[in-house]
Amino acid sequence: MKSEKWMVEHIQDLKGKVIIVTGANSGLGFEAAKVFAKKDATVILACRSITRAETAKEKIMKVYPKSQLMIIPLDLESFESIKVFVNIFQQKFTRLDVLLNNAGIMTVPYGKTEDGLERQNGINHYGHFALTAQLFPLLKKTAGSRIVNVSSVAHRMGKMNFVDPLFEKQRYSKFKSYGRSKLSNLLFTYELDRRIREKGLDIKVLAAHPGVADTSLMRYMNINGILKPLYRLFAKFINTAYTGALPEIRASVDPDVQSGTYYGPKGLPFTKKKPVVVKSNKASHRVDYALKLWELSEKITNQKFEF
Ligand SMILES: NC(=O)c1ccc[n+]([C@@H]2O[C@H](COP(=O)([O-])OP(=O)(O)OC[C@H]3O[C@@H](n4cnc5c(N)ncnc54)[C@H](OP(=O)(O)O)[C@@H]3O)[C@@H](O)[C@H]2O)c1
Repeated sequence: MKSEKWMVEHIQDLKGKVIIVTGANSGLGFEAAKVFAKKDATVILACRSITRAETAKEKIMKVYPKSQLMIIPLDLESFESIKVFVNIFQQKFTRLDVLLNNAGIMTVPYGKTEDGLERQNGINHYGHFALTAQLFPLLKKTAGSRIVNVSSVAHRMGKMNFVDPLFEKQRYSKFKSYGRSKLSNLLFTYELDRRIREKGLDIKVLAAHPGVADTSLMRYMNINGILKPLYRLFAKFINTAYTGALPEIRASVDPDVQSGTYYGPKGLPFTKKKPVVVKSNKASHRVDYALKLWELSEKITNQKFEF
């Protein structure tokens, strides 16, 4: 399907496909999981809260009672939890068609993951790097498989710092940290694409962003008092969780997308526009940054991709 003509209605039957969605209980991840379930895929809801995942599952089952949904607990701020998730997944499935790395946190106060990493970079980038590396053997075994990383327009405010990648020495800024984590999502995507092409593997890797979408991610912005009704007004004009999820849905299942591309809403990020290939900034295409980040990610996560 060419460029702007693509619509959810065009998605082919996904029966037999196995799709993991991280952060599937809420926002974009929930909407993506719902669409994949509607199209008959087997969808793994990879969520840190079983209660919230059960609620999400019930909501999807109510609309699509024949959905093939499975909850497997995953907390991206714990390398142990990621390992356990992968073990459970591998015991149950022998294929993985799509890994949608969607989960994320935004602009939180400084904090550390279980393994001592600054949380935004720990969850948004390093957790997904570790997860992808461990699932890579299965992705390699599955013909035409795909990895999709969810980034943001906020990658533009990210700056890489390989001396102090996790804000241990410099003053922590919640915006700069979020920006760095989302820039890392893109550097990781483009580098993984280069390595996959070099080895001639049958795996596509893409990135996507929703523009600005009204999801519970906004809870991190602490919009209170007079700003609350103003935000509700603003929210009428921005993407819903569903329209915001369209770029990552398209990147995950449109057979015509190209590996190494970045999908987002056409035009301004606030507008509810069709998902198309969009540009990311120059820093995201810097190979020297990508190589350094790769090396650092391997060291921090203690994981290597088996190409
Ligand atoms: N909304 C936007 O405008 C916007 C813009 C640009 C990019 N994005 C990106 O879109 C993605 C999805 O965000 P959203 O807007 O849908 O927000 P959301 O509604 O808050 O959903 C985020 C999901 O990530 C999960 N998550 C957070 N920390 C986790 C962890 N440690 N382990 C496993 N799962 C974890 C959350 O689980 P809990 O429910 O348990 O917290 C939730 O399911 C994120 O990567 C975000 O950076 C969003």
